[in-house]
Order: sequence, then structure tokens, then C-alpha cells
Amino acid sequence: MPLNIFKLAVLVSGRGSNLQAIIDSIDREELDAHLSIVISNTKDAMALKRAEKYGIKTFFIDPSTYLNSKEYDKALVLKLKEFSIDLICLAGYMRILGEEVIQTFEKKIINIHPSLLPAFPGLNAQKQAIEHGVKFSGCTVHFVDSGVDSGPIILQTVVPVYHNDDEKSLSKRILEQEHYLYPKAIKMVKENQIKINDRTVTHKTR
Ligand code: GRF
Repeated sequence: MPLNIFKLAVLVSGRGSNLQAIIDSIDREELDAHLSIVISNTKDAMALKRAEKYGIKTFFIDPSTYLNSKEYDKALVLKLKEFSIDLICLAGYMRILGEEVIQTFEKKIINIHPSLLPAFPGLNAQKQAIEHGVKFSGCTVHFVDSGVDSGPIILQTVVPVYHNDDEKSLSKRILEQEHYLYPKAIKMVKENQIKINDRTVTHKTR
């Protein structure tokens, strides 16, 4: 492995389709990065099996073996430091990251969320969008700060909401776009194509 390769960690809890999109993008040599580790807080996450298939190092950090969230986060930070990770990608990671993680890896953690933030943060974003009756939703990649889905926005894709959509059909349409958007955003961060100014991310033209 070249010394200056960009090292990624992906944090997961479940299905892992965004993880797969990142793996595929690296495989196709569109994204020049090394997926060093995949960490899960759930033992049976399908994402772990996906990673293992590609020989990627996986770790299940079991929340039940830590006294509290602070101790859990300490273990997480240690693991991420051990692998000298350059960028941490949350991909369906269902635990709130504590201050220690956020501060240790300031501006080095990104997340993908299935809505056009700041609309519909938190859980069940697609259901929230349907119930609110919006005509457009989408997905957002953003830096992670200490709030819920509140950090500076890197990229978004708009997805139409049709009158006969339900949570499932809208989720599917959004997910298809997530799989393009996430690797694209990672590439932009990796290639230093963005500048963060307070909460605004600007894209450098080349
Ligand atoms: C995606 O919809 C993502 O936007 C959200 O959680 C879901 C994870 O799906 N944060 P997957 O595990 O990547 O398939």
C-alpha cells in the first residue's frame, strides 16, 4: 500500500448498501482510497459480511461490554487512531457519536442522510417527507458535528416525490441516488476540493 494513500473507515449498523457503493467505487478506481476498516455496533450487520467478502478488516465493537457511551467512544477513537484514518464515513450508523469522537476527528467525519437537510433530520426521514407532503426530497452528505444531522452540507441530490409514493418507494428512489452521491463526496473531500467556512462548504473550481 502506498504510504500516502487516503485511509477510510466506514461505520455501519445494518444493511451496508452505501458501504457497498464505496467499495465498488474504489474497485472501479474512481475513488483512490483504501478502505482500512469497517466498524459496526451491531454484531449481525449485513454490512460486516459485505466487507469480509472483500477481505476488509471488520470490527464489531459491542456496546454491551462498555460501562457507558463515553467508554464506548474511547474504544472507538482508539481503533480509528490505530489505523491512522483520514476520513470516517457514517453509513447507516445508528449510534450518536459523543464529543470525544467529534472533537478528535473534527471535520473528518461525514454522514449520508436520506433527506434534503435541514428538512427531516433524525430517524425515518423518508416517512417524515411523505407525511409532510413535500414534492421533492433527496439525500445529503454533510460533515458531522455535535447536533443531529446538522453539520455543514457538502453535496445534495434532489429526488421527486410522486403522489402515489409510500415510504418504501421513496426510500428506494433516494437510496439509488445515495450510492452515487456518497463516493462523489468522499472523492471531493479526499482531493481537497472543498473549503469549509463556518457552516458553508464551498467547492473549489479547478
Ligand atoms: C441510508 O438511507 C442512509 O442515508 C441512512 O441510513 C441508510 C443506510 O443504508 N443514514 P445502508 O445501510 O447504507 O444500506
